[in-house]
Amino acid sequence: MCGIVGYLGRDEAYPILIKGLKRLEYRGYDSAGVALIDGQGELNVYKAKGKVSDLETYCEGKDTSGSIGIAHTRWATHGEPSATNAHPHYSASGRLALIHNGIIENYATIKENLQSLGVSFRSATDTEVLVQLIEHIQKSNDLDLLGAVQVALHQVIGAYAIAILDREHPDTLICARQSSPLVVGLGGDGDFYLASDASPIAEYTDKVVYLNDGDIAVMQLGHDLQVVNIDNEEQHPKVRQIDITLGQLEKGGYPYFMLKEIFEQPGCIRDCMRGRINVDADRITLSAVIDYREKLVAARRIIIVACGTSWHAGLIGKQLFESLCRIPVEVEYASEFRYREPVIFPDDVVIAISQSGETADTLAAIELARKSGAFVFGVCNAIGASIPRQTQTGVYIHVGPEIGVASTKAFTGQVTVLSMLALCLANERRTIDGARYKELVAELTRIPEKMEQALKTNEQIERLAPIFTYARNCLYLGRGYNYPVALEGALKLKEISYIHAEGYPAAEMKHGPIALIDSEMPVFVIATRDKLYDKVISNIQEVRARGGRVTALVTEGDERIRQFADHVIELPDTVECFQPLMAAIPLQLLAYHIAVCKGKDVDRPRNLAKSVTVE
Ligand code: M6R
Repeated sequence: MCGIVGYLGRDEAYPILIKGLKRLEYRGYDSAGVALIDGQGELNVYKAKGKVSDLETYCEGKDTSGSIGIAHTRWATHGEPSATNAHPHYSASGRLALIHNGIIENYATIKENLQSLGVSFRSATDTEVLVQLIEHIQKSNDLDLLGAVQVALHQVIGAYAIAILDREHPDTLICARQSSPLVVGLGGDGDFYLASDASPIAEYTDKVVYLNDGDIAVMQLGHDLQVVNIDNEEQHPKVRQIDITLGQLEKGGYPYFMLKEIFEQPGCIRDCMRGRINVDADRITLSAVIDYREKLVAARRIIIVACGTSWHAGLIGKQLFESLCRIPVEVEYASEFRYREPVIFPDDVVIAISQSGETADTLAAIELARKSGAFVFGVCNAIGASIPRQTQTGVYIHVGPEIGVASTKAFTGQVTVLSMLALCLANERRTIDGARYKELVAELTRIPEKMEQALKTNEQIERLAPIFTYARNCLYLGRGYNYPVALEGALKLKEISYIHAEGYPAAEMKHGPIALIDSEMPVFVIATRDKLYDKVISNIQEVRARGGRVTALVTEGDERIRQFADHVIELPDTVECFQPLMAAIPLQLLAYHIAVCKGKDVDRPRNLAKSVTVE
């Protein structure tokens, strides 16, 4: 959701900025723009509706020279997607240009004030209000840019990551952060890179500074990075080392990132378990559990907060913690939790799950939980993101950057981490028998190999996919551990193919959705062999009796369901609690191939953003 890139150095900025914007395309956007100060001190701004490639086309033949610049991909919040509303926004005199991620909540009041002082506006955005405010302060108080930014930010309520250029100071780039991420990359030559996440920076430097809320960074060519707050107090952020390879950021021969990421899962899950499960595959060690053993073991209740796919992983976590650790668990949509008045006890453990680590609602839920005195534990993928920094401890899922907007490997990574955490706590709490613990740990280590086998269903699914492209609605059914997988399968399909899909607990179907079933309605049933197997078979019969078309995910060798399902997809056998790690794969592939057959842009579905940094 909105992307920021900036560069200040000795090289031409334009190619670096465009490449950076392309690396951020996965976040979702509807327009793009770039601002550069050329050798003559001209501040040029170019913007286009559509893709970064549309911006490139627009820039052809224009002056894109200069070794300082900022660039942006916009996901519309205030004002329709258009070149006018795209960022950067000029100040009234054309001296400043600014890009912004987030929302300025009190923009209307500020705008009215400025209008009453004679300032006019070109766009419908909250962002333009900020750049006009900064210039107005700069002029009326004779302040330098930093001083004007500080005064302006004192007046602003909301979330922002901003970067600003001043043509009077072509060697300086200023940026600021409040509740929206920003990373500064430190080049070897006193040059600087700026971005909303580390992916556009990784190919230039591995030294980064993640700005904290309230930080304002001043980058001046050849000088050390200066970080202050709005009261001009010096801040001392840590320089961190990032470990992202170019291969992780590129498609590696796959047509889409989503397919690459689906196929990466066996390797990712190995990485996720590496160093955490011992070589004998009989013990799990999580440093967060060692460091905070008492808090975690004594948890009176676990509350899981998350959104989207991460929420689905949370539903699986609930079953794991309840059955293995005997701890009651509530799973909450972060967006609902933050605005209710939830009862939170100091001995509750709140687990926040997020791939990006920047989801605004999840961050707000964490803040609420912390204020209520609960212990907050993060399960996150993006290293150094806001969620791992705002939780007391946590576990990274270590599945590498996830670029496809539809989450795939992050889901299985989250389920793997929750499985390891539940097993660890169950062992500490003695709620699991030693032999059973070892058996489950050993089975977990076999999951990557079984995932490789599950991925072999790809060809079969590719062949099946065209059958479903006509569908307007699909139903996904599952029970127990597979119910959240049904929800996740439905979410994947609607996100990228725009076919309406619903996930339901299979037995709940007869309480309503059964009315929808007819021969036009594909029904996908997760019917792997577990304690609810016979019950799921009855549910399949109910669908069949109403003319429904059933595609069943079954355990390999299952001949029973084959007799009455239209299509059968076989999965390797595993224990019940790890079945989601198998069943998710064919459902991801199914959504992918259906969307491809429908000609959709799988990695950049309409209206969606990878990282939802506004509420
Ligand atoms: O980064 P997060 O895990 O916090 O993101 C949560 C959701 O926005 C995310 O899972 C979303 O639902 C995905 N597009 C699902 O594929």
